[in-house]
Amino acid sequence: MSKSPPRDRARFFVLDGVDGCGKSTLAARLCGELERAGRAQPLHLREPGSTKAGEAIRAVALGKQYELAPAVEALLMAAARRQMLDELVAPALAAGRDVVCERFHPSTWAYQGVAGAVGEKRVVELLKRWANEPAPDLVLILDAPVEVALARRGGAERDRIEAKGRAFHERVAAAYRRFAEEKPFGGRVAAIDASLPTERVAAQVWEAVRGIL
Ligand code: TMP
Repeated sequence: MSKSPPRDRARFFVLDGVDGCGKSTLAARLCGELERAGRAQPLHLREPGSTKAGEAIRAVALGKQYELAPAVEALLMAAARRQMLDELVAPALAAGRDVVCERFHPSTWAYQGVAGAVGEKRVVELLKRWANEPAPDLVLILDAPVEVALARRGGAERDRIEAKGRAFHERVAAAYRRFAEEKPFGGRVAAIDASLPTERVAAQVWEAVRGIL
């Protein structure tokens, strides 16, 4: 008997990358493509957040009124993620709906583990232990130079982590590139050149997604 999953099994997709890499637009487009391909309406999520508890955690983790060490940020991200996995991702997949999630483990690895110096291994241990199930079927890393991403989001600093400065975001961007090469959580990871016009980036995303449907 073949070990490969049935072709119609619901899939869990993650889109991740620096602030301003185009995640939201591409995630919405991917949901549309999946539906046009005849799949059940996908569940579009964002991290941290998507659940009531997760949005409350987001307000604390990203609020400019709080001072948090990167280790505390990592713990909050893990808590929000576990809530989302249990409350939304697992039931959606069980019901046959694909999940498209903006941000996931690569964000914590890049922002807290590498740029925030919590340590890559500690972040992997934390998330593998507490937020590992269900695991994504495909992680898409949207790679865009910091200046392209900054220009896309109009230079606006919307939250405390985005306000950490240019050098921090350069470290985040380099960490994402390394994530795509090293795949520290295992699983399928695809690097997408997100510096191209949206149409071409969306085409690369769909190509990678179609490959696992
Ligand atoms: P966004 O949802 O608008 O992309 O913003 C989320 C912010 O949270 C962004 O600055 C990146 C940050 N973040 C982390 O630092 N670690 C994480 O694990 C996640 C999911 C997000």
